[in-house]
Amino acid sequence: MKRLIVNNPCMLKGNVNISGSKNAAIPIICTSIIKKGKVILKNIPRILDVFILLKIIKELNCKIMFIGYTLIIDSSKIKYKTLNNENVRKIRGSYYLIGPLLYLFGKCEIALPGGCSIGNRPIDAHIDMLKTFGNNVEIKDNVLYVSKEKALDEVIYSMTKNSVGASINAIICSALTNKTMLSGLVIEPEAIDVINFMKELGYEIISNHSECIIYNKVYNPKIIKYKIIPDRIEAMTFIIMGLLTGNITIKNSIVNHYQYPINLLINAGYNIKIRKNKVIAKKSRGKGFDIETSIYPGFPTDMQPLFAVLLALSKGKSQITENIFENRMQIFDDLILANACVNVVDNKAYLIGVDNLRNMDYECKDLRQSAAVILLVLSFGGSVNNLEILNRGYESFFYKIRQLRAVFKIVDQNN
Ligand code: EPU
Repeated sequence: MKRLIVNNPCMLKGNVNISGSKNAAIPIICTSIIKKGKVILKNIPRILDVFILLKIIKELNCKIMFIGYTLIIDSSKIKYKTLNNENVRKIRGSYYLIGPLLYLFGKCEIALPGGCSIGNRPIDAHIDMLKTFGNNVEIKDNVLYVSKEKALDEVIYSMTKNSVGASINAIICSALTNKTMLSGLVIEPEAIDVINFMKELGYEIISNHSECIIYNKVYNPKIIKYKIIPDRIEAMTFIIMGLLTGNITIKNSIVNHYQYPINLLINAGYNIKIRKNKVIAKKSRGKGFDIETSIYPGFPTDMQPLFAVLLALSKGKSQITENIFENRMQIFDDLILANACVNVVDNKAYLIGVDNLRNMDYECKDLRQSAAVILLVLSFGGSVNNLEILNRGYESFFYKIRQLRAVFKIVDQNN
């Protein structure tokens, strides 16, 4: 395990390029095997969760070439296999393979998914949806057994929960019928990316807000090429880094994808300039404000720990309410350690901004909390253990901050 050491507060300055979106790349890679041929995906982030998923896909006898940010998947010789191993359990997104496997082989035996420990993370909404698509579903010893019971011509389904993952999974499972009408979906920019990719595969899809009609009618014989959207959470991580530590220009992000949170920052007086696809974030201290996590286009839970750090250092009072994942409050333990003025009651944190925090030693616990504690040590010095968690979702993070002139050491934490 690795440990980050920052001896003095950093003054970060320069440009950073935002990588492809983790939460779009994972379902799109899974969906690509439906094609039973060659798919070329561009802007794929070189992150741990993608590498784990590729290992799983290789087990299905697919050929993979990953050069730079271009991923070529050739699934023409795909073979059925039970997916019950450590890799499948490590990542959340492995459940996006269920629909493609059912489509190709009529069955799927897969370990229950893992992912960050940010709460209970049940999959009841996925199971309900899979049953409606004519499948038999059973869970035994942490393995999900799904088999096609009847072929349905048309499915009309309304989601039982506000779930990003179950919505994307339902869209992918539309491959199992000729016509699917879905409602109650959570359509975030990453889900739109999946929809756009499926259109390239030949599906006809009409979508708006929380509804989708999908016609599964065209087999597209071309080699498919598709470019993944940039990662909006990574973009916001570097924006907040700029606001806390210096002057950072964020390139290649799509501001529309994080319009609501960036507007909150601008309205609170933070020094942010938006120029076409560039965002310039300069060190500044804005007013406090309240946030409440919700589904898109509301405030994203993945940005909550990052905003918690910023608001702990703002001018005045703020209130943060976490409505999506119960364990996403763990950043407040770190902030309390660092001497922030925070009071946590259940899923609410009440903060009064201070102008300085203590240099502390932190542990990475989940992906976004890890990014948040790194913001703290870059701003005030300190150390962070178990750095590997960050590699799940942030590409070349330490290379990128070194380019921004961060001064730090990474050592083996057992030494
Ligand atoms: N939920 C259920 N039943 C279900 C599914 C979800 O009760 O069957 C609950 C969850 O427990 C949670 C809420 O619904 O309380 C929302 O969960 P959702 O399904 O929307 O989350 P997810 O699909 O598991 C994805 C991202 C997360 C991101 C959330 C919310 C992937 C691989 N993961 O998770 O990303 O936080 O949506 O936007 O796309 C991250 O990137 O750090 C990350 C954790």
